[in-house]
Amino acid sequence: MNEFTLDLNQRPRRNRKSATVRALVRETEISVKDFVYPVFIMEGENKEEPIPSMPGMTRKTVDVLLKEIEECVALGVKAIAPFPSIAEEKKDHKGSESYNPNGLVPTCVRAIKEKFPDVVVMTDAALDPFNIDGHDGIVAENGEILNDETVDVLCKMAVCHAKAGADFVCPSDMMDGRIGAIRSALDAAGFTNTSIMAYSAKYASAFYGPFRDALDSAPKAGDKKTYQMDPANRREAIREVALDINEGADIVMVKPACYYLDVLREVADFSEVPVAAYQVSGEYAMLCAAAENGWLDRNRVILESLMGIKRAGAKMIWTYFAKEAAKLLQGES
Ligand code: PBG
Repeated sequence: MNEFTLDLNQRPRRNRKSATVRALVRETEISVKDFVYPVFIMEGENKEEPIPSMPGMTRKTVDVLLKEIEECVALGVKAIAPFPSIAEEKKDHKGSESYNPNGLVPTCVRAIKEKFPDVVVMTDAALDPFNIDGHDGIVAENGEILNDETVDVLCKMAVCHAKAGADFVCPSDMMDGRIGAIRSALDAAGFTNTSIMAYSAKYASAFYGPFRDALDSAPKAGDKKTYQMDPANRREAIREVALDINEGADIVMVKPACYYLDVLREVADFSEVPVAAYQVSGEYAMLCAAAENGWLDRNRVILESLMGIKRAGAKMIWTYFAKEAAKLLQGES
């Protein structure tokens, strides 16, 4: 007998006593199948440019992306979300380039689906990369972001992406009523099998900074607070999610992820459709920066951050770490 023994019938540490026991009792698993990999594309051929605020991520032409997708597929990363960097001279005040059938996004979708029919392609529906004003919607002369006029353009954009073969269109603009309108437009054009992933609870976050650097898409004036959600609000996320589900969303999203895990949990408990979370550019940049300085253990924080997001209720995770995490998970098993 030890000299000092607590009289405990519960010793939670027994369930942590070996790696095998820990694996048996583990409540949450992350898998490469959970990942959606966001990528940045640009026009041209055989070009790739680094994005300084997102170390390791680049803007690349479609031919270069196709080579990367080969690598993704080998790793088991099979959902790709391309975001376009559009030349300044193609931008206007109405984002017309967004529904050009020969534009960068539809061209990219066709190229991916032709070479990798099983890869799931998720396209972004929002005007910011195409709009001279850098806003997700059409900007009126008085600075107002016009809701219904914007939704009209989003519908054209969604049908254009569906025609190119997109598996999902993903409205990230936060206009009211866009999910229902896009669903009707897709159905009317015969695309009843094209899915909608709605950025339902998308907050007006400072964590999107590096993404806007990547696409040179920051708003020229004002901010996005009249359409993206106030970071202070939790119940409003449920309202947005409920509306999007009623309007026909197949999957709803919470974004950003790690600073909004309470929202994610609440949405996951409420939602009858699967929930996605987006680990955004700023979350990626922070972890990279700390790891580069030797302040955090890169491999461990990548997996821990993804685990936290999954545990909070995400079924799938959009993450710039998709490839790296896939490699780490292979090493674990
Ligand atoms: C734009 C859009 C943004 C992101 C995805 N789609 C930026 C924004 O709303 O300003 C952010 C993604 C990220 O930061 O990784 N519709």
